[in-house]
Amino acid sequence: METKIYHADTIKEAAKEIQAGQLVSFPTETVYGLGADATNEAAVKQVYVAKGRPSDNPLIVHVADITTVEKYAQPLSEKTRLLMKTFWPGPLTIILKLKPDALSKSVTGGLETAAFRNPHNEATLDLIRQAGVPIVGPSANTSGKPSPTEAKHVYHDLHGKIAGILDDGPTQIGVESTVIDMSGEVPSILRPGAVSEAQLAKVIGTVQSDHHKVGKNEVPKAPGMKYKHYAPNAQVLIVADDQWPAAMNWAAQQNSPVGVMTTEQVKKENLIPTNAEWFSLGEDVHSASHNLFAGLRHFDLESSVTYILAQEFDRIGLGEAYMNRLGKSAGQQYFQTPNK
Ligand code: TXA
Ligand code: MG
Repeated sequence: METKIYHADTIKEAAKEIQAGQLVSFPTETVYGLGADATNEAAVKQVYVAKGRPSDNPLIVHVADITTVEKYAQPLSEKTRLLMKTFWPGPLTIILKLKPDALSKSVTGGLETAAFRNPHNEATLDLIRQAGVPIVGPSANTSGKPSPTEAKHVYHDLHGKIAGILDDGPTQIGVESTVIDMSGEVPSILRPGAVSEAQLAKVIGTVQSDHHKVGKNEVPKAPGMKYKHYAPNAQVLIVADDQWPAAMNWAAQQNSPVGVMTTEQVKKENLIPTNAEWFSLGEDVHSASHNLFAGLRHFDLESSVTYILAQEFDRIGLGEAYMNRLGKSAGQQYFQTPNK
């Protein structure tokens, strides 16, 4: 299958592919998604096939308006409405209880809930409206690989397997949406993202934060949290601020080149060894989140490093989302000064 590239002026053609049960990758403010008609069971099943995704991992339903959510979900609570009013369109995915049999098992993974998201991207909102159906979309990467933040990443992973990609340039935020579960007694954050715990608490009061607690033998509430994620071919090592001099020393002694991902500031303060390959995370945690997945992919495709040293950030605000993704890509491994 030839994978076509669509732009803002060819959204209608992309929408026709969705209506015909084909897969089209779509841009959002976070990462690119792999889209299919949420009401077409055969099309949704193809999403799992194309990604190589385990079928018990449910998909996010992307909508252009709240009315569509009301069609499928149980009556919305006051708090849920407040969240939608405050953060939509935007990087917040909301888990809600469904009306009986409202969506197929392939969308929900057999759960009685579904995840809804109203992405902040005009091209995609247009695509959803023109298709006339909600669009399911996991991140448009091969399962286990870093999420795509540019159309070329999607093309690399999925060309030949999907009908098209709606290209709207690089995404802004770079890490996936915050997922909040509003189906239980207490709202709980299942995945950190650009909408922080503090921002959520300000609007709806107490929120739990479940993603901290997922240990190896626990069943996570968001099924996706248990799988290996974002892993490039090289071993990623997280480097704490005070470890950079030692890490650079260690890198200089390696026989093969080491990848280094830091902000401009950390680069200025530490001499990057000549045998290292540096990838810029920009100025701060925002640019670092924007660049993280692209950097991991860069080392996979354009270099042959066996280690990637990557900068740690404080786990507050967006730093929590950045560290959550970096931690997974590193299998939680930190650089430690080798014993002498
Ligand atoms: O930013 C994003 O959210 C991107 C863009 C494309 O919208 N999408 C994305 O989808 O990251 P995905 O499938 O890679 O991650 C969705 C997460 C998974 O961890 C999944 O297990 C969880 O949401 N999830 C989906 N439905 C759920 C449900 N009913 N209950 C609990 N967790 C759910
Ligand atoms: Mg994903």
